[in-house]
Amino acid sequence: MKWTPSTVVQKKIWADGLFTLRVTAPEVLPFSAGQFLHLAIVENDERTNRPYSVASPHGEHVDFFIVLVEDGKLTPKLWNLEAGDEIEISERAAGSFTLKKTPDAKHLWLVSTGTGLAPYIAMLRTAEPWQRYEKVIVVHGVRHRSDLAYQEEMDAYREQYGEQFAYIPMLSREDDEHALRGRIPQCLESGELERVAECELNQDQSAILLCGNPAMLDEMESRLGERGMVKHRKKAPGQIVLERYW
Ligand SMILES: Cc1cc2nc3c(=O)[nH]c(=O)nc-3n(C[C@H](O)[C@H](O)[C@H](O)COP(=O)(O)OP(=O)(O)OC[C@H]3O[C@@H](n4cnc5c(N)ncnc54)[C@H](O)[C@@H]3O)c2cc1C
Ligand SMILES: NC(=O)c1ccc[n+]([C@@H]2O[C@H](COP(=O)([O-])OP(=O)(O)OC[C@H]3O[C@@H](n4cnc5c(N)ncnc54)[C@H](OP(=O)(O)O)[C@@H]3O)[C@@H](O)[C@H]2O)c1
Repeated sequence: MKWTPSTVVQKKIWADGLFTLRVTAPEVLPFSAGQFLHLAIVENDERTNRPYSVASPHGEHVDFFIVLVEDGKLTPKLWNLEAGDEIEISERAAGSFTLKKTPDAKHLWLVSTGTGLAPYIAMLRTAEPWQRYEKVIVVHGVRHRSDLAYQEEMDAYREQYGEQFAYIPMLSREDDEHALRGRIPQCLESGELERVAECELNQDQSAILLCGNPAMLDEMESRLGERGMVKHRKKAPGQIVLERYW
């Protein structure tokens, strides 16, 4: 992997341990929304690095939406960074979690838990989802209300795109009148998800991206399978595209 120098421009804290780092990316090669880069910190000649979905399209600066894993190796170091600090960033992005690898459909479902929202932020900031799909539905499942980052940006999409856009926040550990209560697969099973989205999730009308907690991905894949929905492959078209964070 080729490493390039980068400087932290801004650290936005959404909740304790949940943050977005904006860093310079002068030598990062053009990439597609949804792809990931590696971030690295070098200390005592030792480099610690991990992959992160880019939460912005390619540009002079790039954003990363990160959660502090308390006993993790890299995230405590990333959490301690401040504007002006130096890090390293990989030159070339990777991954096929992109709209290019997503089938055409009437409705595009962007389903995430926690920081799995990151690649969707990048995609929503491009013209492609709005041009290709009649309706774009963002589902964000988190533990607490304070974990619902990027709400203002979601409000702005609602304002700009009206009924073409639906944002469905979901809280697993507290009640809120503006969010569904529970986990994503259960809300799919109960019919609540489709009721709030005001459209069906099925193999004829939907393309669905899933990103975040691997247990959510597995459960959703199995429930969508019961509806005849399968992973999308070039040689065997389906409806589901996945990004597994761990
Ligand atoms: C393609 C890809 C893209 C990724 N994009 C992001 C991203 O945009 N934002 C982000 O925060 N992480 C992302 N990750 C996870 C990231 O690479 C690290 O695994 C994570 O930051 C933990 O690193 P660590 O060294 O602190 O913990 P480690 O010492 O490596 O411990 C890893 C453990 O932390 C937990 N964990 C890892 N990531 C998460 C997470 N996001 N949420 C909850 N628990 C987690 C799991 O239990 C995992 O086994 C991505 C991973 C992959 C493979
Ligand atoms: N503000 C923060 O988010 C924050 C801050 C500091 C540190 N941390 C640490 O970061 C780590 C990750 O926390 P996180 O909350 O971002 O991620 P997470 O544990 O993956 O939880 C995110 C959401 O996914 C849900 N989920 C878990 N398993 C699921 C499944 N099988 N199907 C559907 N949904 C499922 C969770 O529900 P449940 O609640 O039911 O599990 C929660 O609503 C933890 O170690 C945490 O202590 C988080």
